Amino acid sequence: MTRIRVRLDALRDRSYTVEIRPGILAEVPLLLSRSEGKRRMFVITDSNVTRYYGRALNSKLAAAGCEVTVLDVPAGERSKGSPTVNFLYTKVFRGGIRRDSLIIALGGGVIGDLAGYIAATVLRGVRLVQIPTTLLAQVDSSVGGKVGIDHPAGKNLIGAFHQPSAVYIDPEALLTLPPDEFRNGFAEVIKIAAALDAPFFANIERNAQRIRRENTALNAKILETAVALKASVVEKDERETGLRRVLNLGHTIGHALESSGGFALKHGQAVAIGMAVEARISRELGLLGASDCQRLTAMLEAADLPVTPPRSINERAFMSAIALDKKSDVSGTRFVLLRRIGECAPGVPVPADLIRKTMGLVSKKSTHG
Ligand SMILES: NC(=O)c1ccc[n+]([C@@H]2O[C@H](COP(=O)([O-])OP(=O)(O)OC[C@H]3O[C@@H](n4cnc5c(N)ncnc54)[C@H](O)[C@@H]3O)[C@@H](O)[C@H]2O)c1
Ligand SMILES: [Zn+2]
Repeated sequence: MTRIRVRLDALRDRSYTVEIRPGILAEVPLLLSRSEGKRRMFVITDSNVTRYYGRALNSKLAAAGCEVTVLDVPAGERSKGSPTVNFLYTKVFRGGIRRDSLIIALGGGVIGDLAGYIAATVLRGVRLVQIPTTLLAQVDSSVGGKVGIDHPAGKNLIGAFHQPSAVYIDPEALLTLPPDEFRNGFAEVIKIAAALDAPFFANIERNAQRIRRENTALNAKILETAVALKASVVEKDERETGLRRVLNLGHTIGHALESSGGFALKHGQAVAIGMAVEARISRELGLLGASDCQRLTAMLEAADLPVTPPRSINERAFMSAIALDKKSDVSGTRFVLLRRIGECAPGVPVPADLIRKTMGLVSKKSTHG
């Protein structure tokens, strides 16, 4: 069992523990009934996760004497928007939510962001427990307190910082995850390693052939390192005013690919392409050596992730999505680039022509006129 402490705020202690252990999901009802038993509980989950884990959690919490309501929404990114938020507000008000109630997010990153946003805003904030069930959510979104929803104008444009009071991570939950969702989450593992920790990167490189959802022991180890790295970044920069920006490696290109492509690409695929392109940009700007650029691309390919943009990309929509990036300021869009594996160069402005070139948009333009 691994316990990682996320230390925040000297004044009002908002520190919390992330527990990572194969099989912990079966024990969560008992743990929660002990720590939170008197609170009214609302489990927010999706239509897939409720079948695998939601019903069992509900019946065990009820058997432990907890007053619990399970609310499930359709699986998928489309649920991360204001219509679902309003649906859930109505449900929790009808269910008698109070300031001392607890919201439990059981599911992938969509549910973590959505349920977290409900917890951050309803009655100006109630307690939140994260039980992430995708690799992406376990390694990235469940720790750090970023919650939010999408808007027709773009992804994750509405949100808040709302730290959970506990996070329970069960590597065995990955056994039911569709393999492409596992690959998708692995992009964020590669991101954390490439951005922050060269030995960790070398470790996953060595184990590349053994990486799959069934390898619970290896996944538990990878999760421990990746979550500890994320926690240390969040502790130093909770509100993303500095260091935390390095976790956006691959995301400037990635988010623009997602939004300009109508979200046909999964987040992890878009981030994988984003990392490969941003490594090429880093190389072109003389920041990153050829061998580290190649290592990152090879690691992404070994994890069965894409490294080149789809041919169907709409250049105009893509470039305007880049300009809309949350990291843009008066001088243009600022990228998190790489200096070497394990070390980033945040806040680098990149000329539009270099973005087009490394995305392969220049040659396409000239061939098609
Ligand atoms: N808040 C943050 O810091 C942060 C960081 C990264 C990503 N995100 C957000 O996370 C979202 C993507 O998350 P995701 O990739 O987890 O997507 P997701 O939540 O849609 O889950 C992917 C699919 O897996 C299914 N699923 C989940 N757990 C399962 C399990 N154990 N077994 C079987 N099926 C399971 C879900 O029903 C869904 O169909 C995006 O909206 C992204 O913006 C947030
Ligand atoms: Zn991401």
